[in-house]
Amino acid sequence: MQTAHTKEELRGLLASMRGRRIVFVPTMGALHAGHASLLHQARALAGEQGIVVSSIFLNPVQFDNAGDLSTYPQTPDADLTLCKECGVDVVFMPTPDVMYCADRSMVMEENHLSTVLCGASRPGHFAGVCLVVCKLFNLVQPTDAIFGKKDYQQLAILRRMVRDLDIPVVLHGAEIVREEDGLALSSRNVRLLPQHRAAAPQIYGALRTAARDYAAGASAEEVRASVIDTLSAIDGVRIDYAELVDAETLHAPACDHRMALLAVAAWFGDVRLIDNIELVRA
Ligand code: PAF
Repeated sequence: MQTAHTKEELRGLLASMRGRRIVFVPTMGALHAGHASLLHQARALAGEQGIVVSSIFLNPVQFDNAGDLSTYPQTPDADLTLCKECGVDVVFMPTPDVMYCADRSMVMEENHLSTVLCGASRPGHFAGVCLVVCKLFNLVQPTDAIFGKKDYQQLAILRRMVRDLDIPVVLHGAEIVREEDGLALSSRNVRLLPQHRAAAPQIYGALRTAARDYAAGASAEEVRASVIDTLSAIDGVRIDYAELVDAETLHAPACDHRMALLAVAAWFGDVRLIDNIELVRA
């Protein structure tokens, strides 16, 4: 495995690999089993002839909350070990001043999918995600890139970015990886207080109940209300949103003949957790 810290080093390493399938997994570090799953999928997709590239970059411009950025876990040594174990060929680990010019004045804005759900409560977040992912795509020039479906809205917005800007990369969505008790893996989980960690699996419990009820004919509003009831009964939990939307447009209403998405964001103490489930009528 080779590591690049600057754009020049990265371009140099990739120069001799052009023409092969390049599968890219961007991350912000603090890697866990969810990332390992993305990296294994990347390795399988790339095959023996292809290249797996990952980036580890805590992107400051996508944080709308300075406290969230300063407390975001960083485990670079363990991250590199995991990348190696997962068969990554090249890791790109830039610093913010390598990624961004001090007088950067370019912004990336998506103005439909990012106005709802997390976009409504985290102003500027998806503009920061699109900016960094677009830059990373330009640097790595991957044939394929893999993103987890836990950040469902992020994946939908990046699909839109790739489509609207004609970026020649195929995006793949990977299923959510969960703890045995159902909690979706997240780098932020380590910051949960014990009582919040114990209660957090109720999110997935509520989503699964909702999925079953929706399949059996419950209305969008009934399903949404049942999730809100479950989560608002937990001590110390504040719901940011619980919405049932069309899985592609991310806006309500969800049509019965298309895939729907039930998405939730809730504060467990000072940790904001997100989760979602795809819903279909039986
Ligand atoms: O999902 C993430 O970890 C980040 O938003 C991403 C895609 C690596 C961009 O910083």
